[in-house]
Amino acid sequence: MKINVLLIGSGGREHALAWGIAKSPLLNTLYIAPGNPGTESLGENVSLDVSNHAEVQQFIEEHDVKLTVVGPEQPLVEGISDHLEAAGHKVFGPKKAAAMLEGSKEFAKDFMARHNIPTAAYKVFDQDDFEAAAEYIKSQNSYPVVLKADGLAGGKGVLIPESEAEAMEALQELKTGSLSGAASRLVIEEFMVGEEASVFAICDGNSFKVIGNAQDHKRVGEGDTGLNTGGMGAYSPAPILTAELLAKTEKEIILPTISGMKAEGYPYTGFLYVGLMITSEGPKVVEYNCRFGDPECQVIIPRMESDLLEVLVASTNTPLNPLSRGDFSTMDINFDQKYRCTVVLASGGYPQSYEKGKVISGLDSVQDALIFHAGTKRDGDQIVTNGGRVLNVVGSGDTLQEAIELSYTAISKISFEGSFYRSDIGAKGLKHLK
Ligand code: AMP
Ligand code: GLY
Repeated sequence: MKINVLLIGSGGREHALAWGIAKSPLLNTLYIAPGNPGTESLGENVSLDVSNHAEVQQFIEEHDVKLTVVGPEQPLVEGISDHLEAAGHKVFGPKKAAAMLEGSKEFAKDFMARHNIPTAAYKVFDQDDFEAAAEYIKSQNSYPVVLKADGLAGGKGVLIPESEAEAMEALQELKTGSLSGAASRLVIEEFMVGEEASVFAICDGNSFKVIGNAQDHKRVGEGDTGLNTGGMGAYSPAPILTAELLAKTEKEIILPTISGMKAEGYPYTGFLYVGLMITSEGPKVVEYNCRFGDPECQVIIPRMESDLLEVLVASTNTPLNPLSRGDFSTMDINFDQKYRCTVVLASGGYPQSYEKGKVISGLDSVQDALIFHAGTKRDGDQIVTNGGRVLNVVGSGDTLQEAIELSYTAISKISFEGSFYRSDIGAKGLKHLK
């Protein structure tokens, strides 16, 4: 039996997921809400208000959707899985209580403390008690210090002041500035020194499978300088993550996370994104996300040789006739041995204000790399920009160097007014291979 699938989201991550799902012989129709011009050829883009769970449910029922896959964190933290599952539908993505691993930094830190999962030392304060927070920072007298708004802040909720004066300014920003909504609670933590990398797993509530690792480039500028962004490029696998570090991450971090969430009554399902700092004491958790990374997804999904939809179906126990295709816990998920690199083509000005509606040229001239759309829109016969991160170009190769070169050869053929990209994506990975 073939099934209809609904995928929620519109970014590069969702284009990559749609690309993976669309290859499956188990797929009948893929609906993407809202999708982007890149997903148009893989399924049917549909307009749905995903914050209106009843509307999503109605769509699912009218279109005989057997599995809903949720890309971004917002709908998960808002409980879309709870609503749809209560109505008897299968959803890939954690319920609200489990999505708290991303939705509340205080929950995540307290959870790690309860389960001895390595992370930075921390203390939590109430927004009304910022005097105590200021006292605590002064008494620690150790800079930089890390200040985090507890709630979702679109990737902007972390401040890393380098001095007492900067820390007091940051506290004020969290109390009264644009972050005050997300910062009713505030986590203050120790600054960890090391290099960041991420490990991704698919979870069914009881067990998990690691599906890959990557390194992202969060800063807008060359050499990891400038403002934070959603991610300017990534590569997979990340050479910094040796077999030994990966084994340690599974044993000391992912396993206790999955078993701890289950034991506490919030079985974790869906993609688990573990952001790590590789410190001199080993890997420590910087953050959890309750979804796939963007752009990390764009370099991991193309490595997958197994049928992505079959894995999603198994992990959610979605019924297929004749009978389900396999038990998730005993399933092997296979990947090729190549490297992937993705470079993000962004709008001039991003991550601050930028213009939209610029005509993109050169898309058809790229043959030997994958292009995943993010902030794009169709305008008649043309594709125009519609966001900060516009396109992801993904090169593959037997070596990381080759994957990087293919990405850059491809991205140099595409342009729009004001477009820019970082020219050093992957350089920090090459350093570990020398
Ligand atoms: P988060 O939103 O928690 O991922 O934090 C955003 C970024 O801040 C991370 O990717 C790190 O670069 C940095 N960061 C967060 N927490 C720490 C920490 N405890 N030590 C050092 N850097 C951190
Ligand atoms: N690329 C970072 C993230 O998805 O959070």
